[in-house]
Amino acid sequence: MILKPAKSLKGELTVPGDKSISHRSVMFGAIANGCTEVTHFLEGADCLSTISCFQNMGISIENTAGRIIIHGKGLHGLRRPDAALDVGNSGTTARLLSGILAGQPFSTVLTGDASIQKRPMGRIMKPLREMGADVQGLHGNDCAPFQINGGSLHGIRYLSPVASAQVKSCVLLAGLYADSPTSVTEPALSRNHTELMLTSFGADLASRDTSVTIQPNPHLHGQAIDVPGDISSAAYFIAAGLLVPNAQILIRNVGINPTRDGILRAAQAMHANIEKLNIHETSGEPVCDLLVTSSSLCATTIAGDLIPALIDEIPILAVMAAFAKGTTVIRDAAELKVKESDRIASIVTNLKAMGADITATEDGMVIHGGRTLHYAEIDPCMDHRIAMAFAVAALCAQGGAKIRDAECVTISYPQFYRDLHALVDK
Ligand code: S3P
Repeated sequence: MILKPAKSLKGELTVPGDKSISHRSVMFGAIANGCTEVTHFLEGADCLSTISCFQNMGISIENTAGRIIIHGKGLHGLRRPDAALDVGNSGTTARLLSGILAGQPFSTVLTGDASIQKRPMGRIMKPLREMGADVQGLHGNDCAPFQINGGSLHGIRYLSPVASAQVKSCVLLAGLYADSPTSVTEPALSRNHTELMLTSFGADLASRDTSVTIQPNPHLHGQAIDVPGDISSAAYFIAAGLLVPNAQILIRNVGINPTRDGILRAAQAMHANIEKLNIHETSGEPVCDLLVTSSSLCATTIAGDLIPALIDEIPILAVMAAFAKGTTVIRDAAELKVKESDRIASIVTNLKAMGADITATEDGMVIHGGRTLHYAEIDPCMDHRIAMAFAVAALCAQGGAKIRDAECVTISYPQFYRDLHALVDK
């Protein structure tokens, strides 16, 4: 895919449904009693992997014109799948599903694509083993494929070494099947969609600071869920609207949960012109429209507790920093190395190829912004977020850029290039 520089951006768009919330709507719907009806569900490859895993465990899921209906069978209604469950590229499916599988009275093998088979699963194997599940990597490591022999679980108090909503959610979901309460404490608060949505399904959760406790064996009941637009997908349009000259775009219906809005806080520190309009709530999540206007950005520091609130937006924030005045430092973000690609490497290599002054560090990067970027051929390392971040960089680079394997965006945003092109003033 070749992207040319844009002279201006104008118009409005609605980004697809939130990926984290879409996954959870299917998972919780499957183990609730009765129907869960989901609108504005993200039909990206990752969430479709979640649907197919649950269909393979006997859950009927209908998809009619973007409306997903999950016929839940209750906490104990899943059936042993006939074959290994394939999560594709989806870390969220792998880790959250493992928590549910640990509570089942049958054994399951979970596998995924080449990227998933390299991502660390020890972070969920450890607490699940502590709870009493037998989890074994089939290649002698702590990666997929692995087998989970579920069964009678005990409640634990888990002190997670990483601020990860996937780890937290995995342990909480296993806690539904335990014989006593389970709590998780993390070093900084990660996204809390599991806590919010499980509570609305009828689970008993109590959150305090960075800890959450769940009571076992609730009666979960199906819900109607309207999924807010994904702020992680909106992030590319926020950046494009800020960086392209003469731009003004309205992004409608974006989720602004405070555990996810780090991009807005970082952008504000960079002197971005972003207005929040029409703030309201959708299915228990805060939502608004974002009006984004071209801005002269300045550098910032992105670190500490802010990191979990913008972890998936660091590729596009790095692009913004390359165009900003001054030196941006990103640290405390070693988690970037274990995402769909090693994102420290994939960001730094590709920004350097475009002429940016950027250096990788152990837990982030340092970007001396303000150089003119130029044409390069971008290798996104099959990582959807790298492809989209560099599509935006291309709009502002001399000669644009070519994105290899551009179709990898289907993981979270199948219509990304169509939506981007629709805003470019020709
Ligand atoms: C997610 C949590 C984050 C995020 C991922 C989705 C989730 O991962 O990067 O894209 O839906 O819980 P970690 O929990 O591993 O940080």
